Amino acid sequence: MEKEPHKDKRLVWRGLILVIMALVLAAVLISFQKYFHRSNSSEADANQVVDKYANALSIAMQFFDVQKSGKLVNNKIAWRGDSALGDGSEVNLDLSRGMYDAGDHVKFGFPMAFTATVLSWAILEYGNHMNMVNELDNAHESLKWITDFLINAHPSENVLYIQVGDPELDHTCWERPEAMTGKRPLTQVNASYPGTDVAAESAAAMAAASLVFKSIDSAYSGTLLKHAKQLFKFADSYRGSYSISIPGVQDFYNSTGFVDELLWGAAWLYHATGEKSYLTYVSTNGNAFANWGNPSWFSWENKLAGAQVLLSRVNFFSSKEDISTEESLSLQSYRQTAEIFLCGLLPESPMATSQRTAGIVMK
Ligand SMILES: *[C@@H]1O[C@H](CO)[C@@H](O)[C@H](O)[C@H]1NC(C)=O
Ligand SMILES: *[C@@H]1O[C@H](CO)[C@@H](O)[C@H](O)[C@H]1NC(C)=O
Repeated sequence: MEKEPHKDKRLVWRGLILVIMALVLAAVLISFQKYFHRSNSSEADANQVVDKYANALSIAMQFFDVQKSGKLVNNKIAWRGDSALGDGSEVNLDLSRGMYDAGDHVKFGFPMAFTATVLSWAILEYGNHMNMVNELDNAHESLKWITDFLINAHPSENVLYIQVGDPELDHTCWERPEAMTGKRPLTQVNASYPGTDVAAESAAAMAAASLVFKSIDSAYSGTLLKHAKQLFKFADSYRGSYSISIPGVQDFYNSTGFVDELLWGAAWLYHATGEKSYLTYVSTNGNAFANWGNPSWFSWENKLAGAQVLLSRVNFFSSKEDISTEESLSLQSYRQTAEIFLCGLLPESPMATSQRTAGIVMK
């Protein structure tokens, strides 16, 4: 089948919506935080601004409700109903949950897992603010909708289902998910066809979510952590990009490398478990893998900047006794690169990048 180039481009943008929403959510929350801590404006002004951000957050969060696949629970969207109830049934797995990517009905594991990781991070950093405007339970529910899928998508140590649906077929037809009748083929990575990127990202998502659910449901949190550890081991032991193992994914969510996911996954596992082996992993592999990297953006495809910021936390907050000199040096390198990255993003920094859109600069 011949491809129209415009169509591909449009699909890529449609496809990125889920991930973009997770990042919008984080941005809204960061702005929120700024206004909560503002002292020099009048209280009425501040309240009005808080209301606007609360409303923006609520609308952003609604997106996750709209994207839900499976048998809906507490559905708040009048025009959504149950769909894809049979996903996974041919291999006796319940893969009905998870979220559709965008206007399509494919469940793409790579960006979906990244969405869960970033949503977890947003909850961990700003959950108290979400709670103040009554959005925290909703955030937990949306996160669990994805992690329930990830748990079931990982039926044995070295098998992970990374996609439900056929994007080529799906994208030829606009329809309601409630009414779809097409085949819903499953795609997996395994020891012979590895997917280090997608498996390590799924490990990161489950490790991060295990921290979110730790105080709410410790059994569920423990299950997530068990899967996260196994998936990280699978990702690291059978190294290869899922884009090479399954070339069909290249037209949708191509992965250009997996070292960032390995460092990001290990960084989340270190935070979730406190186990020294993960710190040793990032410290011994940081330089070799990424030369500390020099990322200029943070995205579903490149998580290096995220790993660097996460590991800077350890550099700031960890008690010094349990960190070796070598590890401490490597953490400093992560921190330095994180600082360079952030200085590029902050508009008023002397090192601010000039490559930005002419939008509103928030003061
Ligand atoms: C391993 O994954 C590949 C790629 O998805 C698939 O073609 C193959 O059937 C899988 N192996 C098994 C034993 O299912
Ligand atoms: C996907 O990424 C690989 C590795 O960087 C690259 O070789 C390939 O050309 C990319 N594919 C597409 C369709 O962009």
